[in-house]
Order: sequence, then C-alpha cells, then structure tokens
Amino acid sequence: PEYQQLNYGMTLAAFKNIFFWEYFHRLWGRLLGLAFGLPFLFFLLTGRIPNGFGLRLGLLLLLGGFQGVVGWWMVKSGLTQDASVSQYRLATHLGVALVIFSLLIWTAFDLRDGRSKGPAGHALASLVLLGVTILAGALVAGMDAGLLYNHYPLMGNGLVPVEYGDHGLMDPFDNPASAQFHHRWIAALTFGAVVVLGLKARKGQMKRRANLVLAAVSLQFILGIVTLLHGVPVSLGGMHQAGAVVLLGCLLALIHGNGQPALNRQNNLPDNAQA
Ligand code: HEM
Repeated sequence: PEYQQLNYGMTLAAFKNIFFWEYFHRLWGRLLGLAFGLPFLFFLLTGRIPNGFGLRLGLLLLLGGFQGVVGWWMVKSGLTQDASVSQYRLATHLGVALVIFSLLIWTAFDLRDGRSKGPAGHALASLVLLGVTILAGALVAGMDAGLLYNHYPLMGNGLVPVEYGDHGLMDPFDNPASAQFHHRWIAALTFGAVVVLGLKARKGQMKRRANLVLAAVSLQFILGIVTLLHGVPVSLGGMHQAGAVVLLGCLLALIHGNGQPALNRQNNLPDNAQA
C-alpha cells in the first residue's frame, strides 16, 4: 500500500535502500537474540550464572523475543489502507527496546559493581520523566509531527498550537501538533529535573557520571531543537534518537552508582540517599 499511496514511481534502487534497512534491522535483532541466548544457555548449563541472576537473565531473553513479536505487530499495521505504521505500535516498540536496554545496563552494573537499590525520589522522578519524554518523542516521529512546526519555542503565533485539542479525548495521541507540543515541554521538564539531579550528584562520589549526565541531557535538548529547526532530516533524527539512548544509559549509571550502599558509606551518606 505504501508504494501506491506514498512512494508511487519509486525506483528499484530507492526501494533496495529501504528494504536493506528493514531487512538488516530484522537480521540484527535475530543476531542479538543468538548473541545473548547461546552464551546464556551455556553458562546456565555449566552452572556459572551467579546466584539470583538466572531468572532475571532468562526474563531478559524472553523480553527480547517479545520485542520481535511487537516489531512484527508494528510493521503489520503499515500493511493496511493507511500505509504508515501506527504511532502507538511504534511507541510500544521503542518503549520495550528501552526497557530491555535499561534492564541490561542495570544488570551489567549489578554484576560488575554489586547490587544497587532501585531508584527512588528525585532519581525515580527523573527516570520517569525521561521515559515519558521518549514515548512522547516516538509519537512525534510516528506521526511525522516534526514536519509541522519548525520554530522554537513558538508554534505558529503562540506557545500553544491552534490545533491543540482538535481531536477530543485522543488528542495527545492522535493530533500531531499536540504531540509535538507535549514532547517539547515534557522534554523541558525532564531537562530541568535531570540537570538538578546531576548538579546535586556532582558533589558526591559520582562526579564523573554526573558530568556525563549533564553533558548528555544538554546535548540532547539542543539536538532536539536543531533537528526541528532543520525540518527533521534523517541524519539529525537518527542522532536525536541515539542521543536519547545515551542519555538514558548515563542516567542509569549515575542512579546505580548513587544507590550502592557501600559507596554511600564511604562517602558518609545515608544508605537511602539518592543523588
Ligand atoms: C531530554 C530531551 C529529549 C529527549 C530525551 C528526546 C527524545 C526523543 C525520542 C526518543 C524521539 C523519537 C525518535 C524516533 O523514534 O525516531 C524524539 C523525536 C523527536 N524529538 Fe525529541 N527529545 C528531547 C528533546 C527534544 C526537543 C527539546 C525538541 C525540539 C524542541 C525535540 C524534537 C523532536 C522531534 C522533532 C522529533 C521527531 C524526529 C523524527 O521524526 O525522526 N526533542 N525525541
């Protein structure tokens, strides 16, 4: 359907290009499953998985398989009368990818540095805000909403676009202008929360990680604006998506470090201190 509606007259060479990325992405996903699953099975059978990690690693493998199913479900939504994939399914696919990524990072730090407390307080709020910003960004990408308003901070003549609320109850999810508006301002809240967390953490043991978080969140915010002002070319859109993953990784590293009782004792902080 996409050929008839959006890409009519597309050359074979151009088709080969999009086919390559689609096919490469699928093969890479399967390869990741093997790269994780085979060593996991080997270490499990030879009894080399540390105590308490077997179930978590097994669940991660299952989540990886589930992500493949979500990917299929997402692509299927584009093979209908409406040729674009559903923005809800795209957001789900990105969301599950980032849940897997977060659990992998957390588990890797647990294995390397010892277990850490789960995030709480300001750290948890920052993580939740970042998650919501990322999902809001997926809605923007899923509806090509970045092509609508290419100025910052105004959207048209005001801060709030004129189309805001036009789609009734489903407006935040179905209206491209509202999706862009929400992504901009939730990102600004996230920026504020993460900067304060980073500045607080700079005074403690985790100075390097805090600096990384401060750099990552600032670059990501600026990159979002630059991507928008340039009309969302694929190169900048891709960098902005990757920047979100880098920021999430840096934030998790900081929160993990701050939640480690041993480190906090060295630093004379109470065990429950978060950042
Ligand atoms: C903490 C700050 C931010 C984070 C973590 C973030 C994250 C994301 C993510 C994950 C996406 C989806 C990418 C995809 O699925 O292709 C996205 C899309 C987008 N973001 Fe952001 N964003 C942030 C700030 C901003 C800001 C400040 C702006 C502009 C004012 C912005 C503009 C956009 C645009 C235009 C898209 C659509 C890109 C496309 O269609 O490929 N973002 N963002």
